Amino acid sequence: MPETAILQLPDQSIELPLLTGTEDEKAVDISKLRAQTGYITLDTGFMNTGSCTSAVTFLDGEKGILRYRGYPIEQLAEHSSFVEVSYLLIYGELPTQEQLASFSKLLSQHSLIHEGLKQVFGGFSKSAHPMVILSAMVASLSAYYSEASGKASVENLDINGARLLAKIRTIAAFSYKKTIGQPFIYPTDSLAYVPNFLNMMFAVPAEPYEIHPDVARALELLLILHADHEQNCSTSTVRVVGSSMANVYASVASGILALWGPLHGGANQAVLEMLAQIQNDGGDVDKFIKLGKDPDSGFRLMGFGHRVYKNYDPRAKIIKSACDRVLSSLGVQDPLLDIARKLEEATLSDSYFVERKLYPNVDFYSGIIYRALGIPANMFTVMFALGRVPGWIAQWKEMHEDPRTKIARPRQLYTGSLIRDYVPMSQRG
Ligand code: ACO
Repeated sequence: MPETAILQLPDQSIELPLLTGTEDEKAVDISKLRAQTGYITLDTGFMNTGSCTSAVTFLDGEKGILRYRGYPIEQLAEHSSFVEVSYLLIYGELPTQEQLASFSKLLSQHSLIHEGLKQVFGGFSKSAHPMVILSAMVASLSAYYSEASGKASVENLDINGARLLAKIRTIAAFSYKKTIGQPFIYPTDSLAYVPNFLNMMFAVPAEPYEIHPDVARALELLLILHADHEQNCSTSTVRVVGSSMANVYASVASGILALWGPLHGGANQAVLEMLAQIQNDGGDVDKFIKLGKDPDSGFRLMGFGHRVYKNYDPRAKIIKSACDRVLSSLGVQDPLLDIARKLEEATLSDSYFVERKLYPNVDFYSGIIYRALGIPANMFTVMFALGRVPGWIAQWKEMHEDPRTKIARPRQLYTGSLIRDYVPMSQRG
């Protein structure tokens, strides 16, 4: 293969370097294009733009492949724990026994949040969505840790990353308790990461909470599956914000807000609401499929389609089979699962979805599991955020370790008015 591409412009021609990734992914390096020719590239929604090189996660949307640091998601889902996967993503290798033990200890040691921060919860209205509370609280962590400011947070990432992973779990549980008006339950160091979270979510001072091992394992699985997904909307947000030397808490808080949108992580809540809507409407799946295909309806089938996957999302495949397992082991019968299955079956043989390669994504079945675990719909996207924290930290770290990193600052093609003179109010029509 030639090592350059030739770009023929009206007035000149230029050679652009070609790059190849370790999985044979191909790229044209246009970083000098504007300096050499005056042209920029235009790529709305960054459909074709690589914003960085990254060694964290590989995904092949055509083949439905997802790997963290080279390890297939299927193997990690079967054998690993969320804490181990977090270590793998952040540090690049699976931990030894000692490394895992000291990492886990760090997470236990930092699980409390400052009492002053706890009072901030009181300022939110009862109807506040837990995602906005989560983001505000994570941003507020920078007010308590001076090592987090600007460049210092890069140097102190081990401790700030551990704090984030440990405290976001406490904040998430507290934000839930706030919305239902129950007292906060403090973290318990003797519990592992996921059981500790479940305890803070569901225990009440009046009685202890029995942690069902199947519930803990199911949540662990979901966290692992959400842990990273290369340069998606929220991760790109974390990188963009971090590129200005904003601290890691501010960067992750911004990522949380990007994740909240219904076209991104917010889709898991939207899926469940859509399934309930279909159920309340009498369960006519075909009617909603027709609606989803009508561009004028303003309705999309939530949980279908993906910018990168043009095949079955490998995470959705794992979650779908876990759904059956978890529901039967917990003795839960959920009519929404039947509606979801019917919806999927119908789309797989519908030419609209087949031609556009619209398959169920990670959000399609996850809500049904969260529901079976007793997690309310407005907490689904918070669960996604908890899972994604190690990925955000790993990508933030990688960005700062890359000597080529610059502040993210895209260009634009201006299409507005040409220069004109200010018109006084009295002369405006
Ligand atoms: N239902 C119906 N039609 C759809 C859907 C859907 N869920 N998704 C895409 N389409 C159609 C579009 O209308 C478009 O059709 P057209 O070519 O006739 O105009 C075509 O498929 C391509 O869709 P785009 O919106 O151009 O694809 P894009 O890559 O920009 O969007 C996205 C991807 C946002 C995920 C989209 O598929 C969607 O809105 N899905 C529903 C929301 C969702 O589930 N989001 C979660 C994604 S996973 C995650 O972020 C964790």
